[in-house]
Amino acid sequence: MPNLFPRWTNLLPLKIAVCVGATAAGIALAFSYYATPKALTVGYQPSQPIPFSHKIHVDQLGLDCRYCHSFVEVSGHSNVPTGNTCWNCHQHVQRDSPKLAPLHRSMDPAFPGYDGRPIEWVRIHKSPDYVYFNHAAHVNRGVSCQTCHGDVNRMEVVWQDQPHSMAWCLDCHRAPEKFLRPLEEVYNFGYDPLQYLSENPQLGVKTPEELGLKLKEQFDVKPKESCATCHH
Ligand code: HEC
Ligand code: HEC
Ligand code: HEC
Ligand code: HEC
Ligand code: HEC
Repeated sequence: MPNLFPRWTNLLPLKIAVCVGATAAGIALAFSYYATPKALTVGYQPSQPIPFSHKIHVDQLGLDCRYCHSFVEVSGHSNVPTGNTCWNCHQHVQRDSPKLAPLHRSMDPAFPGYDGRPIEWVRIHKSPDYVYFNHAAHVNRGVSCQTCHGDVNRMEVVWQDQPHSMAWCLDCHRAPEKFLRPLEEVYNFGYDPLQYLSENPQLGVKTPEELGLKLKEQFDVKPKESCATCHH
C-alpha cells in the first residue's frame, strides 16, 4: 500500500502535539479521531513468496498460533517463523510441491538454486514508528489474537481485518471488559462466552458482560489512555 504522504509528514503532527503539550491533547485527540485514515489499511492483503495458508495449517491441521508465532506471549514483538519451522514438516510432507520452491531455496542445500537466505514475507500489520505496541502485554491479559486480527484461522491469505488506528486502540482501552477472555481462551478461535459460562457454573456469572467485568477485576486490568503509554 503506497503512503499518500512522505514519511516525515506522519511524524509532524505528533511532534507538534508533543511540543504544544497537554492543552493540545484534547485537540490532537479530536484531530486523530477524524483524521486517522481508518480505511487506509483495512483489507490490505499482499501476496506472499509462498502461498502459505492459515486455513490449512490452523483450521485443518490444528496447529496453535504459538507453534509459529512463538514469541507472542513472551515479547512485545510477535515474530513470523523462520524457514526451520516449516522445514521440520516439509522436508517430509508435500516435499515436491512447486509452491514450496522458495522454502527449498532457503533450507535445502541439495536444491538447485539453494542460497540459504531467509524467506522474505511481506509485512501486513505495521504501526507507525512513533507508536509503541506490545503483544505480550495484551495476550497475557485476556486479549485474543482474534479481537485484533480477525479470523486468521480461516484465512487462505492473511489480510488486515481491523483499523489499528488510535481511535480503535482507545475504544478498547476505555472499555476492555467488552473484549476480555479467560486466559485459556485467548488462542481459541471458536470461543463462545455463553458456552464458556454454561460449562463453568462455579463462576457464579450469568452474562458475558458480567464475565468481562469479573475478568477485568481478576486481572487487575487498567489500560492507560495517557499519550505516553503509546507514544514514548
Ligand atoms: C505453521 C505456521 C503458522 C501458524 C500455526 C500460524 N501462523 Fe500466522 N503466519 C505464519 C507465516 C509464515 C506468516 C507470514 C506469511 C503470511 O502472512 O501468510 C504469518 C502471518 C501472520 C499474520 C500477519 C503478519 C503481518 O505481516 O502483519 C498474523 C496476524 C498471523 N500470522 C496470525 C496468526 C494467528 C492468530 C495464528 C493462530 C490462529 C497463526 N498466525 C498461526 C505462520 C503461521
Ligand atoms: C506441523 C507440520 C507443518 C508445518 C510446521 C508446516 N506445514 Fe505446510 N503443510 C503441512 C501439511 C500436512 C500440508 C498438507 C495439507 C493438505 O494436503 O491438506 C501442508 C501444506 C502446505 C502447503 C500447500 C502445498 C500444496 O502444494 O498444496 C504450503 C504452501 C505449505 N504447507 C507451506 C508451509 C510453510 C511456508 C510453512 C512454515 C511457515 C509450513 N507450511 C509449516 C504441514 C506443515
Ligand atoms: C491488542 C491487539 C493485538 C493482539 C491481541 C494481537 N495483535 Fe498482533 N499485531 C497488532 C498490531 C497493532 C501489530 C502491528 C505492530 C507493530 O507494527 O509493531 C501486530 C502485528 C502482528 C504480527 C506481525 C509482526 C511482524 O513483525 O511481522 C504478527 C505475526 C502478529 N501480530 C500475530 C499475532 C498473534 C499470533 C496474536 C495472538 C497470539 C496477536 N498478534 C495478538 C495487534 C494485536
Ligand atoms: C481489545 C482491547 C485492546 C486493544 C484493541 C488495544 N489494547 Fe492496549 N491494552 C489492553 C489491555 C487489556 C492492556 C493491559 C492493561 C493492564 O495491564 O492494566 C493494554 C495495555 C497496553 C499497553 C501497556 C503495555 C505495557 O508495556 O505495559 C500499551 C502500550 C498498549 N496497550 C498499546 C496499545 C496500542 C498502541 C493499541 C492499538 C494499536 C492497543 N493497545 C489496542 C487492551 C487493548
Ligand atoms: C492506546 C494507544 C494510544 C494512546 C493512549 C494515544 N495514542 Fe496517539 N496514536 C496511536 C496510534 C496507534 C496511532 C497511529 C494511528 C494510525 O496509524 O492510523 C496514533 C497516532 C497519533 C497521532 C498522529 C496523527 C494521526 O491521527 O494519525 C497523533 C498526533 C497522536 N497519536 C497524538 C496522541 C496524543 C496527543 C495522545 C494523548 C492524548 C495520544 N496520541 C494517545 C495510539 C495511541
